[in-house]
Amino acid sequence: MDFSFERRKVLVTGHTGFKGSWLTLWLSMLKADITGIALDPEDRAGAFNAMNISSLCKDIRQDINDYNEVYSIFREQKPEIVFHLAAQPLVLESYERPMETMQTNVMGTVNILEACRKTPSVRTIVVITTDKCYENREWVYGYREHDRLGGRDPYSVSKAAAELVVKAYSKSFFTPETGVGLATARAGNVIGGGDWAANRIVPDCIRALTHNQTIEVRNPFSVRPWQHVLEPLGGYLMLAQRLRENPEKFSGPWNFGPEYEGIRDVGYLVNEMIHFWEEGDWVDIGTGTKDQLHEARLLTLDISKARNLLLWQPAYTFRQSVEATVSWYKSQFIGEDIAKKGIEQIEEYQKHSL
Ligand SMILES: NC(=O)c1ccc[n+]([C@@H]2O[C@H](COP(=O)([O-])OP(=O)(O)OC[C@H]3O[C@@H](n4cnc5c(N)ncnc54)[C@H](O)[C@@H]3O)[C@@H](O)[C@H]2O)c1
Repeated sequence: MDFSFERRKVLVTGHTGFKGSWLTLWLSMLKADITGIALDPEDRAGAFNAMNISSLCKDIRQDINDYNEVYSIFREQKPEIVFHLAAQPLVLESYERPMETMQTNVMGTVNILEACRKTPSVRTIVVITTDKCYENREWVYGYREHDRLGGRDPYSVSKAAAELVVKAYSKSFFTPETGVGLATARAGNVIGGGDWAANRIVPDCIRALTHNQTIEVRNPFSVRPWQHVLEPLGGYLMLAQRLRENPEKFSGPWNFGPEYEGIRDVGYLVNEMIHFWEEGDWVDIGTGTKDQLHEARLLTLDISKARNLLLWQPAYTFRQSVEATVSWYKSQFIGEDIAKKGIEQIEEYQKHSL
C-alpha cells in the first residue's frame, strides 16, 4: 500500500518503547512530522537508542497520567493523527504493579482521548490495545472483533477497559458528524529487533544466547499468535490512512494477527531462534517456578475483518519473522549500524507487503 503521511502532523505516544520506536522510524521514512510522548527508554540497548529515534521526532518525555501537561502538548503541537501506544505492557509486571498498570493503561488512555477531544486539529486516532483484551475461553478458533471483552490478570483487564473507554468516547464524542475517525488495534505477540523487556521470550532468548547460557523457558507449550513487529505497524498505518479517508466506515476495533501458520507454541519459537542464531539450547522451567501466575494458554486472532475491509494481510511467514528478528539482534551484537539496519528491514518488509 502507498502511504501518504508526508508532512502530516503525527503524534505517537510510547515512541521510546519497542513498537513505538519502529513506528516512529517508519513514519519518519514516510516524511511525517512526528511528535513523541513517552517516559525515558528503559534499556540503553533497546530500539529507541539503537536506532537513534530521538533524532527523528520532537522527543517529549511526559507521563501520560498528567492530563494538563498532555493537553498542553496537544495544544502546542496540533497533531492531525494520533497513535496511542504508551502503556504498561507486561502481564507479569501487572501483577506486581496493578494500580500503576490500571492508571496508565485506563486513565492514561482517557487522558489521551480527552486531549484529542479538546484539540480540533485531531482527525484520526488509533489506540493500540492487545489480543489479550478478549475474554479468553481457550477456544481453538480465533477471536473476532465482536467477541466479548474480558481478562483476568490486571494487564488484560486494563486493556479491555481501555477498549471500553474508546467505545464511550466513540459513541459520546467522536460521532460520525464530527468526521473524526477513532479505532482500536488488537495485535498478538510481537517479535522484532530492539525489544529488551523483562519476561518476554525473545529478549529472554537473546540475553541467554549472547551470554552463552541455556535459555530458560517458562511456558514452552503455550500457543501464541506470533508476528513480526512490522506486521501490526503496517496495519496501524493502513488503518490510520483509511480512517482519514472514511472515518465512519473504518472506526471501531481491528484485529491484526498472523496467518494460521504463525500460531505456534513458545518451544517452537525458541527452536527457530536458536536455528537462526546458529547455536544455543533451552530448558523447560515451567513447573514449580515463581511464575505460576495465570497466563492465558491459548489465544488466537481472526483477521478476516482487516483482510477483507482494510485489504491488510501478513507479509511474512513465521520463519521470515524470526529470521528478521534474529538478524537485527545479531547486527547489534556484532556492532553494525543499527539505524541503517532498521531502515533496511522496513524497506525489505515493504517489498514483501506489496
Ligand atoms: N509487544 C507486544 O508483543 C505487544 C502485543 C500486544 C499489544 N502491545 C501493546 O503495544 C503497545 C506498545 O508496547 P511495547 O511492546 O512497545 O511496550 P514498551 O514497554 O516497549 O513501550 C511502552 C511505551 O509506553 C511508554 N509509557 C509507559 N508508561 C507511560 C506513562 N505513564 N506515560 C508516558 N509513557 C508511558 C514507555 O515510555 C514506552 O515508550 C502497548 O500499548 C502494548 O500494550 C504490545
